[in-house]
Amino acid sequence: MADTKVLGICGSLRKASINMAALQAAGENAPDGVSLEIADLSGIPIYNDDVYQDGFPAAVETLRAQIREADALLFATPEYNYSIPGTLKNAIDWVSRPPDHPFTGKPVAILGCSPGTSGTMRAQYHLRQVMIFLDMRPLNKPEVFIAGAGNLFEDGKLTDAATAERLGDLMAALDAWSAQLSK
Ligand SMILES: Cc1cc2nc3c(=O)[nH]c(=O)nc-3n(C[C@H](O)[C@H](O)[C@H](O)COP(=O)(O)O)c2cc1C
Repeated sequence: MADTKVLGICGSLRKASINMAALQAAGENAPDGVSLEIADLSGIPIYNDDVYQDGFPAAVETLRAQIREADALLFATPEYNYSIPGTLKNAIDWVSRPPDHPFTGKPVAILGCSPGTSGTMRAQYHLRQVMIFLDMRPLNKPEVFIAGAGNLFEDGKLTDAATAERLGDLMAALDAWSAQLSK
């Protein structure tokens, strides 16, 4: 069977991001036959419809192509003020513009880490709402809300075995979901 290619999209740009670390750990704990490439959102400008009228910026073109080529997507989102960080919403807004946005029908899973107690629950439900409008196919379960994340990472690496197992289970579920949708 062909490998499942997953594109990871992280809503934090900072070097020591716990969400990026969790995304990388999801790739490392994925079952055989599932690979994870991680997108780079750092070159995406703030959305401006005047700029869009002249064509997609190069970083947006790249992201749109990566999404199109992926079998499935995995979003890692921090929670900012009970919602999705602007960085992530801005990237989604760019990618969603016509023609033929590549989110349509895409199998997608979500994870999120926060040092607090909610584990990004509120941001993830906002993200799901956006995904529904864009006609993605979000995986319902498992929900991966990684709370108290300050204690689970060291030097940009996940150190908690139980969280690593949850991330592996998420990748396996996304793989199965992607296979089911492609039948
Ligand atoms: C502007 C801003 C708003 C935040 N709002 C929330 C919030 O609503 N809920 C929460 O759990 N953490 C909140 N945080 C804390 C983040 O969860 C924390 O900074 C986290 O480490 C960000 O993810 P990252 O490490 O992947 O960058 C906020 C942080 C920032 C910078």
